[in-house]
Amino acid sequence: MKTLLVTGGAGFIGSNFILYMLNRYNDYKIVNLDKLTYAGNLENLKSVEDHPHYSFFQGDICDRELVEGLFSHYEIDYVINFAAESHVDRSILNPEIFAGTNILGTMTLLNAARNSWEGGMGFKEGKKFIQVSTDEVYGSLGSEGLFTEATPLDPHSPYSASKAAADLFVKSYFDTYKMPVNITRCSNNYGPYQFPEKLIPLMIHNALNKRRLPVYGDGLNIRDWLYVEDHCSAIDAVMHKGKPGEVYNIGGNNERPNIDIVKTILCHLSANVDKAIDESLIQYVEDRKGHDRRYGMDATKIRKELGWVPETRFEDGIRKTIDWYLDNKEWLRHVTSGEYQEYYSKMYGTKKTEAD
Ligand SMILES: NC(=O)c1ccc[n+]([C@@H]2O[C@H](COP(=O)([O-])OP(=O)(O)OC[C@H]3O[C@@H](n4cnc5c(N)ncnc54)[C@H](O)[C@@H]3O)[C@@H](O)[C@H]2O)c1
Repeated sequence: MKTLLVTGGAGFIGSNFILYMLNRYNDYKIVNLDKLTYAGNLENLKSVEDHPHYSFFQGDICDRELVEGLFSHYEIDYVINFAAESHVDRSILNPEIFAGTNILGTMTLLNAARNSWEGGMGFKEGKKFIQVSTDEVYGSLGSEGLFTEATPLDPHSPYSASKAAADLFVKSYFDTYKMPVNITRCSNNYGPYQFPEKLIPLMIHNALNKRRLPVYGDGLNIRDWLYVEDHCSAIDAVMHKGKPGEVYNIGGNNERPNIDIVKTILCHLSANVDKAIDESLIQYVEDRKGHDRRYGMDATKIRKELGWVPETRFEDGIRKTIDWYLDNKEWLRHVTSGEYQEYYSKMYGTKKTEAD
C-alpha cells in the first residue's frame, strides 16, 4: 500500500483526482490536506468520505508543524500538490495571498518531504513530489506556435508569477538535493466541481440565472481546454512513469476563443433548458489587466515518453459538464452562497439583465 499526500484535494481538480485514484486503484491510501478556502468544498468528496483508504485533514500547507506531523504520522510516498490560490482575477485584487500559499506553501511541503525522505544514502526509493503547475507560467503566445517544456518562463499575472516561482523552487530541490520531483504544466481544465468564477461554470451559472455573461475585451482570447479527467490521467502517468527532474506539458490540443465557449454553452442551454437563454445575455466588459492573449500547449513529450493521450473530445466533455451543473444545482447554490456574492459584485457590479 502506498500513501499519497494530496493537497488542495477539496478543490476542483484535486477532488476529481481523488475520486479518479480511489476508483482506479485499490493500493493507494489518500491523505487529503486542504484549508477549505472559498474554493474548497467537502461536498465534492461526499461519495468517498467513509472510504477506508481516504482521510481528510483541514489545514494550511504553510503550517509547518501540521505538515511535518503528517509526514511523521504517515509513511508518505507521493506528494501531489494541487493546493493553491488559483484564480487570476483574485490575484489582481489581492496578490499577497498568492505568494503565501503558492510559493511559501510549496516550500513548506518541499522541506517536509525532503526531511522525511532524505537519508545518509540519498533519497529513499519510490518517493516523488509532483507539483501541479499551469501553462500560464509561459506567458502569452502570438497567433503562431505552442508552448513546449523549453519555453522560457514569462508569467504576467500575480497568479502565474507565484506558480512560476513555486516551479523554480521545485526544480531547485531536484538540482540541489536530487529530490525526485516532477512538474506538470496543464492547460485550462473544465468539468464537474469547478467553482463558478472560472469561465465555463461562471457562464453556465449566470445563464441559468439569466444574469449577464461578462466576456473580457473582444472575447477572442484563446485557451487550450482539457477535460479534468484527462488531467487526472496525465498526473497518474507522471506519478508512475515520469522521469525525476522532468517537466511535462499537458494539453488537449483544443484551442478555442472564449466567445466560442460562451456561445457553445448558450446553444446547449437554449436547446435543453430555456429558449430565452440566448446571446442577448452576453456583455463585453473591460478587458482583464495584463490579459494573456493565447495559450496553446505542445504535449508531445508526455505523449511520446509516457504514452498519455487525452480521451474526451471537447464536444462530449462540454456536454457532460453542462449536464453535471444542471443536475447539481444544490451544489452550485451552496458554493455561491458565501463570500461569492461580495466577490462577484466587486468584479462585475450588481447589475443583472433585463430578464431579471
Ligand atoms: N483550473 C485549471 O484550469 C488549472 C490548470 C492548470 C493548473 N492548475 C493548477 O491546479 C491546481 C488546482 O487547481 P483548481 O482549479 O483545482 O483550484 P481550486 O481553486 O479549485 O482549488 C484549490 C484548493 O486548494 C485549497 N487551498 C487553497 N489554499 C490552501 C492552503 N494554503 N493550504 C491548503 N489548501 C489550500 C482550497 O481550499 C481548494 O480546495 C492549482 O495548483 C492550479 O494552479 C489549474
